[in-house]
Amino acid sequence: MKTIVVLPGEGIGIEVVDAACEVLEGIGLPLKILHPPQGAAALKEHGTPIPEETKRAAREADGVLFGAAGPSSSQVVSWLRWEMEAYAGVRPVRFFRGMHSPLVDPDGIDYVILRENSQDLYPGREGDLSELARVMPDLADKTGRTIGHFGAGRFAVKVVTPAGVERIARFAVELARKRQALGKPGKVTCVTKSNVLPKSDGLFQQISERVVRDAGLEFEHFHVDDMARRLVRFPRAMDVVLCMNLYGDILSDLAAETAGGLGLAPSGCFGDGWAYFESVHGSAPDIAGQGIANPTATILSAAMMLDHIGLATEAQRLQNAVGRVYHDRKTLTPDQGGSATTRAMAQAVAAAYRSA
Ligand code: NAI
Ligand code: MG
Repeated sequence: MKTIVVLPGEGIGIEVVDAACEVLEGIGLPLKILHPPQGAAALKEHGTPIPEETKRAAREADGVLFGAAGPSSSQVVSWLRWEMEAYAGVRPVRFFRGMHSPLVDPDGIDYVILRENSQDLYPGREGDLSELARVMPDLADKTGRTIGHFGAGRFAVKVVTPAGVERIARFAVELARKRQALGKPGKVTCVTKSNVLPKSDGLFQQISERVVRDAGLEFEHFHVDDMARRLVRFPRAMDVVLCMNLYGDILSDLAAETAGGLGLAPSGCFGDGWAYFESVHGSAPDIAGQGIANPTATILSAAMMLDHIGLATEAQRLQNAVGRVYHDRKTLTPDQGGSATTRAMAQAVAAAYRSA
């Protein structure tokens, strides 16, 4: 028996996690699913959306499935991702026949965006330009303008460290090797903007290249603007796409859409001895409460979680069940051109699993 902690977050996170639990419970897996206090209810009762008892339950569980954060639950994701140092965001991009892709020929899209989760601009270190001008009066841009030149304003700090790049590049190598064993090319494509940021993004590019080439794998690099275009035009040319934090955030939404939509994109975030699983999408306030959110991303995230906790056969069977539901196109949510509810779609996945 494996223990799973579910943390729905808020908005559609609650609906899609409910749906995923219905699938997990409906297919008879050896799982004990725990629902510790979190989100808005925990905020009311415990003064925090992620109380200590919930953190403990998540740390002790075999698997953790998260829904989506919104304004009242952003601390949940900060804890899961940053405080627990889940530095590697694995975001598979895969087209199943029947998914509502805007591309003319999406068949065969199957790659992974690997997002560095801990560095870059993302953790949010911001301040007033006047403070920066005081401590770094000589810091100048390429045209020689110092911070004092601009007067009032704000800044944000982008951080890249060799150790941080090294560990994500090694993760990329492991991921590419695992995929290579399944017949994929074993290639890492690194994404930066090193042409304009040679020190920070350049460091990411250089170390990634060394680590990947030393491992004997194919390495290529594209600037993020070019990469956005390539993911639309040449998605089948991708295998493991290694991105700095913010670029990975942006490109993974774009990539999700090429496969069929944001509601379909799963992810797993890994640290040393820690992992949790969540959809790529957020709490979608525009459709929350209507019961029409697509549960696929969370169900596929649950499949990644099953794989991680040693239920690889069940994980594969669950993915196949999702594939069947898309292939049949009978029980899809409105984002996929159907009229099914979140629950109905989850029930269809569970039924496809049971009948496989
Ligand atoms: P979002 O991902 O919540 O929604 C973007 C668009 O995609 C919306 O039109 C939404 O209806 C649609 N969409 C998303 N998931 C869907 C699903 N499963 N089925 C059908 N349609 C779906 O991004 P947005 O609107 O920028 O952010 C809303 C809130 O979510 C914000 O508070 C943001 O900070 C948070 N957020 C949290 C994330 C996380 O928990 N990891 C990731 C992204 C955003
Ligand atoms: Mg995002």
